[in-house]
Amino acid sequence: MAGSFSSTLHHQRQGNSGPVLLLVHGFPMSHLQWKHQLDEFSKTCRVIAPDLRGLGMSPLRQGQTTLSIEDHADDLVELLESLQITEPVVLMGLSMGGYIAWQMVKKYPHRLRALVLCHTRVIADTPEQAAGRHQLAQRTVETRSAEPVLETMLPRLLPPSVQPSVADAVRIMARQTTPEGLAANLHALATRIDATSLLSTIQVPSLVISGELDAISPLAEMSQWASLIPHAEFISLPGVGHVSPLEAPELFNRTVHEKALW
Ligand code: MLT
Repeated sequence: MAGSFSSTLHHQRQGNSGPVLLLVHGFPMSHLQWKHQLDEFSKTCRVIAPDLRGLGMSPLRQGQTTLSIEDHADDLVELLESLQITEPVVLMGLSMGGYIAWQMVKKYPHRLRALVLCHTRVIADTPEQAAGRHQLAQRTVETRSAEPVLETMLPRLLPPSVQPSVADAVRIMARQTTPEGLAANLHALATRIDATSLLSTIQVPSLVISGELDAISPLAEMSQWASLIPHAEFISLPGVGHVSPLEAPELFNRTVHEKALW
């Protein structure tokens, strides 16, 4: 296991053999969102779990106040280059991690070997949703606190039935992030593009994982767009919300193993 600040993103690496598995977390989280996957998948993969820029322990670049989803995809490729990884990787992305996967499909398809798309969407924010994110970003910077983000998002990220320790884990990740980093990432979410037209271009095996209780990426919507990916399998996990790798790690890990995507 290794944690490091490269010239690019803070990341954790685990595992010595097998394909490269790049774990791309959601907002407002960090690579710790994958804490139950690192041990499990590093038995068969070389796992890399970065903190996306502005989140966790990856600082914004000097003077940076906004980010785009495309910036995140560029950062991931820069990270792979810095680690001298040239072979295609399995990208497992959750929610914002899935939005980033669409940009990887668009700009860097040769970097991908397979996709695991968890609790994510292909459509852009409505103007009202985007305006709400910009207001939230402003409140986050003004109050110098993660609390506005947590108050707004936590009830939608996790179902009411969730274990308190899971909600605490999300709180810890958000509070480890600077207000400026949260705000820059809210800007990235608000300005993301509709990726529907990219779906039919995906040539790699894909697994789409949804949650029965997901309030952010609804199951029916995910099932609909998953059907537009040529080599995708869609699966719905019972009793979980938006963050199944943390909420139900054994079920999540077993499901991914059973599907034997790589
Ligand atoms: C995430 O989990 O990355 C966010 O919920 C994405 C979003 O709010 O659209």
